[in-house]
Amino acid sequence: MKLLSVIGTRPEAIKMAPVVRLLAATPCMDSVVCVTGQHRHMLEQVLELFDIQPQHDLSVMAQGQTLNSLSARILQGMDELLVQLKPDRVLVHGDTTTAMAAAMAAFHRHIPVVHVEAGLRTGSLAEPWPEEMNRRVIDVMAELMFAPTEKAKANLLAENLQGEIHVVGNTVIDALQWVARRFENDAALRESVDARLPQLTEGKRMVLLTSHRRENHGDGLGQICDAVVELVAGGEVEVVYPVHLNPLVLDVVQQRLGRVTGVHLIEPQDYLGFVRLMQRAFLVLTDSGGVQEEAPALGKPVLLLRDVTERPSVVEAGVVKLVGTDRQRIVTAVRELLHDSVAYERMTRAAHPYGHGDASEKIVQILLKAKAA
Ligand code: UD1
Ligand code: UDP
Repeated sequence: MKLLSVIGTRPEAIKMAPVVRLLAATPCMDSVVCVTGQHRHMLEQVLELFDIQPQHDLSVMAQGQTLNSLSARILQGMDELLVQLKPDRVLVHGDTTTAMAAAMAAFHRHIPVVHVEAGLRTGSLAEPWPEEMNRRVIDVMAELMFAPTEKAKANLLAENLQGEIHVVGNTVIDALQWVARRFENDAALRESVDARLPQLTEGKRMVLLTSHRRENHGDGLGQICDAVVELVAGGEVEVVYPVHLNPLVLDVVQQRLGRVTGVHLIEPQDYLGFVRLMQRAFLVLTDSGGVQEEAPALGKPVLLLRDVTERPSVVEAGVVKLVGTDRQRIVTAVRELLHDSVAYERMTRAAHPYGHGDASEKIVQILLKAKAA
């Protein structure tokens, strides 16, 4: 069976890496990888770490790309590739423009679509935007859907979709465990990664921050920056912020936080560096999808810079708390965890709703059976 896996952004690469690596090692699978290049530097960091050499690269990224121009370039590039390769199935991941447009291109060519990380829903098309639309559209077209949890499966069942649904866990845990194992077995690697991370002031706690969601651009990001200024002024914490390369994020953050003592603005980290930052953090402030899954698995509390989440399991487990983007709410929530050790301990109980690191193995086994059928 010829399987074409399509990857465009950092999180897709991290979460598809375990699947792609396993497919490549599976006899009788002809595994081909295409990167759309929706991201460039942030994608390459991941491909290099997981030693993935894509056979095809659509190189679509443009500075400040619009969703329509990006979608059009991916549809066009994918169409040509599908005609050339004639894959039996196309694998896409999650909810990016790459995943949506690649799935649509396959659908238009009557090629079955496989959706990894299917069934996540907030119920609001506005948040996350445009991802909630992307993930819904992909599932309408999918032949096979790999849901990370029973809740995700229930979301899919409620939509009366045509494809087959399998609950397999989330491949992000496979990727995270791969990195954690490398750190455990290789102290020199751990030390070399630590050496390139910011040196923190002794006695201060580290808050790890990431923010890039489109619906937070503008006022939301401004309030997040104000909250950071207030928190570091209190003297108890330092903030480490690997800043996303989107100019609508990078320019604002550099201007607002670039010269604030106690704030370490750093470039996007490769996955080794970021996992190490999560391991060393006191708590994580983020609007990321993937970080909501990883930090709880590492026993790190997450204050989520959003009003809704498609990952309710970690909120119900009490390890992720929604705080939105209101400056005062963020500051209050961080201070509560700094000063209330009982509340903090409650949020550090590791939660594992996304499986135990065997999602990619399950996916490949199901794909092998799909082949036999
Ligand atoms: C995209 C995804 C989002 C995902 C995020 C992960 C869509 C609609 N959005 O958002 O779901 O959470 O990736 O990070 O698919 N850029 C660079 N170099 C890079 C990457 C980005 O310069 O390596 C800059 C470019 O100017 C680019 C801009 O960032 O135009 C935005 O990138 P884009 O992929 O369109 O959106 P993200 O906000 O990254
Ligand atoms: N990540 C990383 N380096 C960074 C920031 C994040 O490797 O500097 C990883 C993080 O561990 C997670 C993924 O990138 O696996 C999340 O990507 P992002 O937040 O950009 O996208 P989302 O998950 O929100 O779609």
